[in-house]
Amino acid sequence: MMDRAALWLILLAVFLISATSDPVKKKQDVDIYSFYINSTVTSRYATTVITSRVANTLNESQEIQFEVKIPKNAFISKFRMTIEGTTYDGVVKGKEEAQQQYNQAVSRGQSAGLVKSVGRTLEDFKTSVTVAAFSKVTFELTYEELLKRRLGKYELLINAQPMQPVADFKMDVHIQEKPGISFLEVKGDLSTGDLTNAIKTTRADKDAWVTFYPTQDQQTKCKSCGENGLNGDLLITYDVERRSPKGEVVVSNGYFVHYFAPSDVPRISKNVVFVIDRSGSMSGRKMDQTRVALLRILTDLDEDDHFGLITFDSEVSLWKRELLKATETNLENAKSFVKKIRDRGATNINAAVLAGVDMISRHPREGTASILILLTDGDPTSGETNIERIMANVKEAIGTKFPLYCLGFGYDVNFDFLTKMSLENGGVARRIYEDSDADLQLQGFYDEVAVPLLTDIQLKYPGGTKLTKTSFSLYFNGSEIVVSGQITDNSVESFTTEVIALSKGSNVTYQDTIMTKDPSDVPPEDEDFMQRLWAYLTVKQLLERQVLLTGQEKEDENKEALKLSLKYQFVTPLTSMVVTKPQEGEVEVADKPKEGEAPARPPAKMPRPLPHGHGFWPQQGQGGLPGPPGDPGVSGVLRYNSFPSMHRGGRYYIDPLQAIPSSAVVAHDIRPDGRLLTVLAPPVHDNVFLLDVVGQSKPLCFEVPVPHKLKLLQDSASEFSMNGESMTGQSGFQIIAFHYKTKHHLTINTTSITYHDGQNHVEFLWGQGPTQHTSEDVSLILRSKGIAVTMGNIRVIIPLHKEKGTTFLWPAVQQQPKDVKFTGILGESGISYEEIPGSQTPTLKLKDQEVKTSWVMVKDYRLASAPVVGCWLVPFQAVVQRELSDFTVTQL
Ligand SMILES: *[C@@H]1O[C@H](CO)[C@@H](O)[C@H](O)[C@H]1NC(C)=O
Ligand SMILES: *[C@@H]1O[C@H](CO)[C@@H](O)[C@H](O)[C@H]1NC(C)=O
Ligand SMILES: *[C@@H]1O[C@H](CO)[C@@H](O)[C@H](O)[C@H]1NC(C)=O
Ligand SMILES: *[C@@H]1O[C@H](CO)[C@@H](O)[C@H](O)[C@H]1NC(C)=O
Ligand SMILES: *[C@@H]1O[C@H](CO)[C@@H](O)[C@H](O)[C@H]1NC(C)=O
Repeated sequence: MMDRAALWLILLAVFLISATSDPVKKKQDVDIYSFYINSTVTSRYATTVITSRVANTLNESQEIQFEVKIPKNAFISKFRMTIEGTTYDGVVKGKEEAQQQYNQAVSRGQSAGLVKSVGRTLEDFKTSVTVAAFSKVTFELTYEELLKRRLGKYELLINAQPMQPVADFKMDVHIQEKPGISFLEVKGDLSTGDLTNAIKTTRADKDAWVTFYPTQDQQTKCKSCGENGLNGDLLITYDVERRSPKGEVVVSNGYFVHYFAPSDVPRISKNVVFVIDRSGSMSGRKMDQTRVALLRILTDLDEDDHFGLITFDSEVSLWKRELLKATETNLENAKSFVKKIRDRGATNINAAVLAGVDMISRHPREGTASILILLTDGDPTSGETNIERIMANVKEAIGTKFPLYCLGFGYDVNFDFLTKMSLENGGVARRIYEDSDADLQLQGFYDEVAVPLLTDIQLKYPGGTKLTKTSFSLYFNGSEIVVSGQITDNSVESFTTEVIALSKGSNVTYQDTIMTKDPSDVPPEDEDFMQRLWAYLTVKQLLERQVLLTGQEKEDENKEALKLSLKYQFVTPLTSMVVTKPQEGEVEVADKPKEGEAPARPPAKMPRPLPHGHGFWPQQGQGGLPGPPGDPGVSGVLRYNSFPSMHRGGRYYIDPLQAIPSSAVVAHDIRPDGRLLTVLAPPVHDNVFLLDVVGQSKPLCFEVPVPHKLKLLQDSASEFSMNGESMTGQSGFQIIAFHYKTKHHLTINTTSITYHDGQNHVEFLWGQGPTQHTSEDVSLILRSKGIAVTMGNIRVIIPLHKEKGTTFLWPAVQQQPKDVKFTGILGESGISYEEIPGSQTPTLKLKDQEVKTSWVMVKDYRLASAPVVGCWLVPFQAVVQRELSDFTVTQL
């Protein structure tokens, strides 16, 4: 194990480190002649439409890309491409249905790249389409979100990065809020420099309009802009007037929403216990930032608050056994304690949280609010480590008395576990991103819960049904409680709301009745927004509750969420948007990235610390194989997905856009002893055959020493064969030849494709533009970067690769009949292996033999993008159990 670590980790001096900069791709020959972003916010519900119109100014067809960033919290609800008058709409389908239907594409990773997360708040939507010479395409993407009130304001974030200066660029934002807008501010890096002049804000009583029409020239002159034009965010923050503490009710078309955010209530003093992870993995910057944040938080405590501090690694230390009043002396003592917190040891979450619960429970105070805050950066590794048992223990100990908030620091936490544990105990989990502002993030979270105003809030709607969540344990100043539902009887003219809550231990009620037929309410064109708002909130809450449910209940709620997602065409974790591309008949699937997945690209060009508290390549389970980096299911493994890589269909790919050379630095960290550890990407092997393995996420691969002509795939029954010719010293194949039913002959080389069907002879050239040819049961679909060959029920894709000045072909079998025994190098399907635990060098059990293996990174040439993937490298003979001479042919 050490050897592996030593191989991959190299000590370098600090000065060797340089940030890898993204290669700037210039798009000539493509003219984005108009780019509109149109956002409408009605009662906090924001619907944003991005429309990009692009012309191919080249005299031949080419691939045109559309890439935009949208807020993570939003659901995509529409995507449409219009080419030469024909529209192609993305269709939202159940994930399983989409997966089954397009299984081939999905498992090959060709389809999952449409949406991925970037940074903390955004997701990236990307697709491309081939557009004929001098033709145009219009892309249109719509997404929807309910803006959440935090620290007294709503934030509408709009990202604009059209990739080039655009002659006709317009951003229009219209906000309509019935109670009136109390303040509005436009911020973000697009509001800096010369661009400030391009922003216009118009305010009326209930409406605000923000327009942003920068000229082409201005588009190159903001802080974050360059010759590629705009690149940045506009952040519109605002709040609404709150004239009535009873809240605001909006009714439209049989649906209602109730916004409840009283501010006339006195603050409740709180009992807060901080449970702080000081395990080894917290060392360095994380520990420093935690200390800084805690010192500030302590300063912000009110004198009538009571507080406790617990630090833990494998042991749990209490600053004081009891909660103490936040007097000046106590705070000073607490601060000296905080300054001395040092990292060490493992992570005993169970004992630490239970100690916190015990501390609060032993300290009951009338009319106060108690809060337990856990901060951790790792999985439980000491004491009770079984996650189910920890959750059961914590739930039983807390017994709904107060909420538990979990802050997960970095990407090595089991965020699902933290989410579930906090939801089970009336709180929420929040991710703290490892970055220079982590201390501010920690403090920001504390600020949100710093001022409790009400506890045990129940909301009642006698005339409502299908209500979203109506009971909340705490209401904090600056936040907002939102309930939406359907109106039972639409003919009734009034609608009543009732809120019952505790304020400093005494009951308070807020009752309100509004007239539902107020014509001034909502403009008629927005009639549907309320129903969509209700659906959005319902789906969000159903999805959130999923982690807490089991069995039939879970299934039912899952079904309900799916039903609504389909009805409103939301791309949620349960659905996928299937985009069928015009000429190519190719399919792409847009999935919502799972919350908490590491961003595809580092949010900033900062050194990315290694989680060395967990060891570098720890054992998998008990003494198993050292897990390959990025193994999704293994806790504590240094995750490759915290590097610039993305997760596709169970494998990890280095993002090809990053263009990281094989020797690039992918992470580094300063050790406590001051040395600098640098991780280099492992060497990348070329010319390796990859085999996907049934039921295993890690593929197998083998190298073939290249003689001249190879039998790739053959089935004598259907008289099918595919052979390839390679040249010494070159990657891939120069010629691939197909023969089928004696009369069909297809020869593909790096310049042309010739096909003879017994009578006719056709020839295509690579790069001539999309073409299709069909005769009997043979079909050829030629695209710019590959050709799809179907013969009977065998389908092979041959991408054309250009690399280091050479051009070559690579065969990728997409579909082959299950019941046929194929021969040839690629004839091996349905292979399986087991990892043998406990051996010195990684060993697999393959076809009843023990085979030594190593984890290598290879280029997957089966895909046009040739992403780098990890695989278990095994000898060729171990897979095919024959000699290489059995696979050579004399003639193609
Ligand atoms: C934005 O949408 C509104 C309402 O649909 C429409 O009137 C306006 O023209 C749109 N603006 C742009 C720039 O597309
Ligand atoms: C496109 O234009 C270039 C230069 O004007 C020319 O060499 C080329 O043959 C043209 N290609 C096609 C497909 O017409
Ligand atoms: C709640 O926050 C507002 C500002 O957002 C402030 O004016 C008010 O005093 C706060 N209320 C309490 C009880 O702290
Ligand atoms: C609040 O009201 C509920 C029911 O209306 C009652 O059971 C409870 O005792 C009241 N609590 C206080 C503190 O008055
Ligand atoms: C590809 O095949 C065509 C037709 O047989 C031939 O003219 C051409 O020279 C070949 N190209 C290469 C690079 O061998």
